[in-house]
Amino acid sequence: MHHRIKIFFLPISLLCTLSISLWSCETRTPVWSEDIAPIVFKNCSVCHRPGEAAPFPLLTYRDAAKRARTIARMVSSRSMPPWPADPSYTHFLNERLLTQEEIDLIAAWAAAGAPEGDSTQTPPTPVFPPYTALGKPDLILQHPEPFFIQGDNRDHFVAMKFPFELPQNTWVRAIEFIPGNRQAVHHMNGHLISFDANRKQAAHEGFLHLEEGEFSVPALTHKKLGILHDDGSYPNMTPSVVNYLPGVFFLKYPDEIGGYHFPQKGALYVKNMHYGPSPKDTFDHSKFHIYFSKTPPGRPVQEMILGTLGVSPIEPPLVIPPGTIKKFITKFIVKEDISVLTLNPHMHLTGKRFKGYALGPEGDTIRLIHIPDWDFRWQYFYTFPKMVKIPKGYTLVAEGEFDNTSKNPNNPFDPPREIREQNGSMRTTDEMFQFIISWLPYQKGDEEISLEGKSGK
Ligand code: HEC
Repeated sequence: MHHRIKIFFLPISLLCTLSISLWSCETRTPVWSEDIAPIVFKNCSVCHRPGEAAPFPLLTYRDAAKRARTIARMVSSRSMPPWPADPSYTHFLNERLLTQEEIDLIAAWAAAGAPEGDSTQTPPTPVFPPYTALGKPDLILQHPEPFFIQGDNRDHFVAMKFPFELPQNTWVRAIEFIPGNRQAVHHMNGHLISFDANRKQAAHEGFLHLEEGEFSVPALTHKKLGILHDDGSYPNMTPSVVNYLPGVFFLKYPDEIGGYHFPQKGALYVKNMHYGPSPKDTFDHSKFHIYFSKTPPGRPVQEMILGTLGVSPIEPPLVIPPGTIKKFITKFIVKEDISVLTLNPHMHLTGKRFKGYALGPEGDTIRLIHIPDWDFRWQYFYTFPKMVKIPKGYTLVAEGEFDNTSKNPNNPFDPPREIREQNGSMRTTDEMFQFIISWLPYQKGDEEISLEGKSGK
């Protein structure tokens, strides 16, 4: 008897506490149609739908009901929706987070057996347009054939070239990466190669892709891929014009910021396309959507990397002995006033915690980002709602903690072995510690410019 009361009491009391602030106090169990569907459609369906990264859809009552308990567990532990940044430290655009009230509601719904309620009250299933908010692209760059990924449970790193020839030099407002196989593509970093048209006959000449092993010597890779001029000289390269990591959704800055000059002959040079380990053979046919512009590019976005391969050394050097949890720091003094747009903290499997901030000469702190519980799978580009000014003379600081004990479930080695940085090797079993910052030279009023341009989804 006592037992029954307890079970019965829990879901209703939860709904009641929350109701005091939101609704009138209703003594009913939360139902899919009115309470849960709006939360799921807003926070989950974007990934949980066919063709996206998540393993199953969350678009209908049946999708959700049969997994109600797992869903409740994942949202209660805040594993889903994935959002590693600490919202009590700083906020970013498109923050995907549930409130405690929403979590309690889902838990109560699952505990009550996941009732549907009145199905006529369910909001319409969300519709995701085939293109992003920018509409139909002006140019699509894609290889003629999909890329074959061997199902050998190993990481695959592939250098790729997506060449193009245009009738004239062209202004471009946005480049969007569309992964072909979202379960396979782990990350992608794309640079713009601008050939001098007089020194390059055919932008298309050379291999379209080379797998790791085939491209150990950079100069040879570039030659094989045909991204050198015909006389062997290097063309102009604009780094990191387009990047992708799981969970990254396309975001275009407002028109006055960013944009590119596309040459008549050029290529997007992808170094690397990183495919995660797959147990079975599969294919990827990723592509780029290019959007032209009638107006010249806005203020060029700069990129600065602290740590591995970057402008600042890691102290002490990044070596994590087996069985230890170790903290590292990297610092860089800002040489001019800058406006920070987007942050991308980067570590691999032994990453545990990441904190980035700027320290003023008087000891004041400008908070940038805190990731209390690092998750290798979710490495977003975090864009501030408005630019954050860092004055000249401030020190940018990144603190990274790494867990190389056997208690870390992501540790690639059992028993743990020494893990270190290896010349910026991107292999997941080597470590990296990077704080990648997109910024502009500061202009008066930057703090007031909303970066909420057009987001993809
Ligand atoms: C940014 C994309 C994304 C969003 C948003 C997202 N998920 Fe997921 N979800 C994933 C991926 C990818 C997986 C596969 C497992 C993994 O990599 O963690 C997953 C796995 C899951 C699982 C299975 C976990 C397991 O171990 O069986 C559940 C349950 C789940 N998600 C529920 C949700 C719910 C509920 C929401 C919204 C509140 C949500 N997800 C939002 C991408 C997402």
